[in-house]
Amino acid sequence: MQFYPPGQYDDKTLGFTGIHAVPLASAMGAEIRGVDLARLSEQQFDEIKRALFRFKMIYFRNQTISPAEQETLTLRFGNFGVDAYTRGMEGYQNIQRLIKEATTVVPRVFGETWHTDSPFLPRPPSISLLYGLEVPPYGGDTWWSNTELAYEFLSEGMKKLLAPLRVHMSGREVIRNTVVSTEQGRKKVGEIEITMDQKHIVEGNFHPLVRTHPETGKKSLYVDQAYSLGIHGLDDEEAAAILGYLKRHVTRELFTCRLHWENRTFVMWDNRSVIHYAFNDYDGYRREMFRTIVEGEVPV
Ligand code: SIN
Repeated sequence: MQFYPPGQYDDKTLGFTGIHAVPLASAMGAEIRGVDLARLSEQQFDEIKRALFRFKMIYFRNQTISPAEQETLTLRFGNFGVDAYTRGMEGYQNIQRLIKEATTVVPRVFGETWHTDSPFLPRPPSISLLYGLEVPPYGGDTWWSNTELAYEFLSEGMKKLLAPLRVHMSGREVIRNTVVSTEQGRKKVGEIEITMDQKHIVEGNFHPLVRTHPETGKKSLYVDQAYSLGIHGLDDEEAAAILGYLKRHVTRELFTCRLHWENRTFVMWDNRSVIHYAFNDYDGYRREMFRTIVEGEVPV
């Protein structure tokens, strides 16, 4: 498959004068330079939002941002989303601390399968913001894939076939594969304490398999490898054939970009048009991140 970069990358074409966007890969992703996230002007925020919808994932190096400032920044995008798996930090209930200590060894880290955030919810989070305070010298990367591009690369026949379908998003397999029950009856992923409404996560929700972005009007595939378990009206074997193809298609290397974190890198991504994957290849090193999410809409 030959991929033609979609172009229109430069700040001038995009109309940016308050930020500098440097693309990471042809498919998606950009570093945004020249901003202090704790002190953004209205113009810079507006351009960051447009850059996020254009590049799907944007990152900022060398940011010093307190939990309170991360909350303030998140609220500029919309209300907080409620995390389905964890309680927030003490004093900051809307910030989830994602931590893996150097001494911890787990079969799977939080986020270690291609996924979009909490799609089993009736209104999954729209945007996720993740601050990497302390990261390993190597390993611990995050990988994203552009599901809007993946949709564009389908044949017209496949697009027609998928148009009316609704995908069953459920946390059943993620809970089974990732969450460990301790002898004391607590649920954990490494150090992260899991406090969830398991019944509702497993029941999940049906959403359009092809969804339309509320801000850009662009269509994307709403399918991932962690949560997409079935298709409404199809039996398991039929759904598995379609989902099996789509799960491979949305993760073609061509549609992806991969970020190596540095201490104090801040990342934002748009869950409506990307899926992502966290690597578990940094045993012996500490990784401490702070995550906030923005409440999303009912997918259409
Ligand atoms: C997540 O899946 O939200 C976490 C990603 C990461 O830790 O890199």
